[in-house]
Amino acid sequence: MIKRDHGGNVGEISRIHGIDEDKIVDFSANINPLGYPPGLRDAVIKEFDSVLNYPDIDSFDLISGLSKYHGIDQNSILVGNGSTEFMYWIPVVFKPKKALIVTPAFSEYEKGLAISGTKVSYFQAEEENDFTVDIDRLCKCLREGFDIVYFCNPANPTGILTPKNDLCRVVACADEIGALAVIDEAFIDFVEEESVKEEIFRFPNLIVLRSMTKFFGIPGLRVGYVMASAPCIKKIREYKPPWTVNSLAQKAAVSALVDGDYIRETRQYISSERKFLKNALNEIPGLSAFGSAANFSLVFMGDGIGLNSTGLRDRLAQEGILIRDCSNFQGLGDRYFRVAVKRHEQNMLLIEKLKAVIRL
Ligand SMILES: Cc1ncc(COP(=O)(O)O)c(C=O)c1O
Repeated sequence: MIKRDHGGNVGEISRIHGIDEDKIVDFSANINPLGYPPGLRDAVIKEFDSVLNYPDIDSFDLISGLSKYHGIDQNSILVGNGSTEFMYWIPVVFKPKKALIVTPAFSEYEKGLAISGTKVSYFQAEEENDFTVDIDRLCKCLREGFDIVYFCNPANPTGILTPKNDLCRVVACADEIGALAVIDEAFIDFVEEESVKEEIFRFPNLIVLRSMTKFFGIPGLRVGYVMASAPCIKKIREYKPPWTVNSLAQKAAVSALVDGDYIRETRQYISSERKFLKNALNEIPGLSAFGSAANFSLVFMGDGIGLNSTGLRDRLAQEGILIRDCSNFQGLGDRYFRVAVKRHEQNMLLIEKLKAVIRL
């Protein structure tokens, strides 16, 4: 049995099933299938001896790079050890009493809030609306009285993109009632034009979380950041421990941001391979894959498969294929799983293995 509530447990599966790690194909974590940008390894190796010093405490080069990349002032950006770090600091800094999380959602929002003793409520995106969030209903719910709302866009694990204008209505509604709006854009790089990053100048209550681990393929290096109004960033900085982004991660991230070819190629590859994967999944009797704006797809298992999502995950794990069982996501039940969009040959292997396991 796999215990953790995240994907990407390659080492654990290797130990349980006695399969070499390099024989395992991991569809459970949504990492760029093209790997990290081609120049990143050399950039890190060249600077390896920087480990002899403490990392730049201000992450000056990285913040400058991000500022250029996004066209956002440097004093509106703060970098951390993955965006997850901020999910733990935001409740500590702002001490919200009541939080609303738009679900299904990443489990770390709730864990960070729990440590600070925040009472958590959920706003469930409805299955019958294919998990599109009803913005009017959400705003109505918010007005019942919350101090903070968490919204992931595109959503994980559904892949649903809420248009920027609709999201701005949520931020405005939170602003009216004096609540913070935390918008997690861990997967927005695939649809950057839908980012609400520029709205930080309009809404002092808006906190945008960004991750470099997925799109740039560096989950092991841990780089994320937050964009918000300068006073909000200043407040978070007061609490944050020093040096949480190590020297090599800073170098790697700086080099990744300037590789325009890799960024374009990633968007094109994901867009075409996502189409292929969705169609191929939908051709398997009993499965229906959702449309997605990100590099993964949510899949529903219909009647007659004879396995629930946990059973399917365990069965595929024996074959060295990892999928994300979604049964521990709020409101999803045990008939959903999520798969990352990987390289074409890997996606074909997934389809082949699924066909062998699911014989309707
Ligand atoms: C929606 C979402 N936000 C944030 C994260 C964490 O990203 P990071 O690696 O930057 O901490 C994840 C990781 O899976 C995620 O799924």
